[in-house]
Amino acid sequence: MDAPLLFLCLMMLMAVVMDGNEDQGSRLRGLWMLSMKDSKQKNKGVPPPHPIRGLVKQQLLYCKVGIGYHLQILSNGTIGGVHEPTEHSFLKLFAMKRGVVGIRGIKSGLYLCMSRDGIAHGAGQFSSDCLFKEILEENHYTTFSSLPHPGIYLALSQKGEVKRGTSVRKHQSCTHFLPRIAR
Ligand SMILES: *[C@@H]1O[C@H](CO)[C@@H](O)[C@H](O)[C@H]1NC(C)=O
Repeated sequence: MDAPLLFLCLMMLMAVVMDGNEDQGSRLRGLWMLSMKDSKQKNKGVPPPHPIRGLVKQQLLYCKVGIGYHLQILSNGTIGGVHEPTEHSFLKLFAMKRGVVGIRGIKSGLYLCMSRDGIAHGAGQFSSDCLFKEILEENHYTTFSSLPHPGIYLALSQKGEVKRGTSVRKHQSCTHFLPRIAR
């Protein structure tokens, strides 16, 4: 670990000790983004999300299309929807900065990623393809669009299969998700 990175880590640690509220959380994320920028220049990739406890939520992502489906990430990397939640439906959403999240399947350990062709898949390696803009739409549903590939949305079909993200628009219910806290 080089000196600037070590300095940032120390600052983050100090901030945690001094205060633990929400504003502090976003400041921490800002600092983390700065340190990521530093390492990104070296190995042209995004390191895995920093496991800042308390900012990580376990939840389900319910899509209202068709009969209603919960997003799942299978261990072979397949993304799909299932009406009744399974062990593969429990997800962790990591806030990477304001409005940008990473999504990880708890059972599979895979990150939800979106290729430039609009193919959603689970990957063991975190990359910029796994960054999503989380937008609360006017109808109170949330859409997830690829950060590096603007205009590509996470979507499920009427049958609950993953849809190609390039062929959908944000006003369509196939892109509308309701984050639910898992019990
Ligand atoms: C992944 O696993 C599911 C369920 O076991 C199966 O239906 C699907 O065909 C598999 N996909 C691949 C690409 O192996």
